[in-house]
Amino acid sequence: MIKMFETTWFGINFNSFSELNSSKQANESFYDLFYQAFYKKFHSYDELPKAWKEQKSSLATFIHSHIKSKTSILSIGSGNGYIENELSKIYNGTITALEPSKTASLWLKSNPKVTLINGYFPDALHQNNQFKFAYMSYTDYVFDDTSYVNILKTIKNYPIDEFLLVGASMYDPSPKFCMKYFIRLVLIQLGFLKKQLWGYQRTLKEHTDIFQKAGYRNLQSGQLADGTYWIKATNE
Ligand SMILES: C[S@@+](CC[C@H](N)C(=O)[O-])C[C@H]1O[C@@H](n2cnc3c(N)ncnc32)[C@H](O)[C@@H]1O
Repeated sequence: MIKMFETTWFGINFNSFSELNSSKQANESFYDLFYQAFYKKFHSYDELPKAWKEQKSSLATFIHSHIKSKTSILSIGSGNGYIENELSKIYNGTITALEPSKTASLWLKSNPKVTLINGYFPDALHQNNQFKFAYMSYTDYVFDDTSYVNILKTIKNYPIDEFLLVGASMYDPSPKFCMKYFIRLVLIQLGFLKKQLWGYQRTLKEHTDIFQKAGYRNLQSGQLADGTYWIKATNE
């Protein structure tokens, strides 16, 4: 696992709303401030960058291929809800979207086909919320190894029969990459480069080891045409 740093997202500079901190990970209040800036900049899904929307739409199509026969699904860490909004156009079952940031889901709130819940998995859910399938898109990076194993264990034991991770955060452990990463890390730690600690990246093996630690034995993984990694875990 390596640390991942960012200074900007959707063209919004983090230092426009917060002090960059390379040792404290972006937390819920950081995401709240980010999404406030996001909704000042963008006013509808239509305004989001075309390439971003195309990538998320292809993820929605991929997720849909796994849920056609399912009656209810859960999204963990739904963010601005673009994927869930796309899914709601093609999927007939019930979609529940869980997102910890209070300010993230302005547009999704007005979609009557998606039940939006503000909070964390599983605490924010009611006991009668049962799901055969859950997915998490571009959100694994927020978890350090301990919290990653813990959330996967909780998903497995909830029980949720199938869990799909899409947009798994990866790095290439080649000597060239590791050398560059190490130099960047030293510059960040010495304060020469100002960056926000965003989360963590892992190799595919590091991801699957964590799934196995959480108790999953039945794992599949692959890459979409654009290189996006996915991992699917099924309860025995
Ligand atoms: C990069 S966004 C991804 C949003 C969306 N799933 C997508 O693919 O566009 C990551 C989201 O994870 C949320 N998040 C942060 N910590 C989380 C946690 N512990 N559990 C679930 N979501 C979390 C953030 O608020 C943020 O909205």
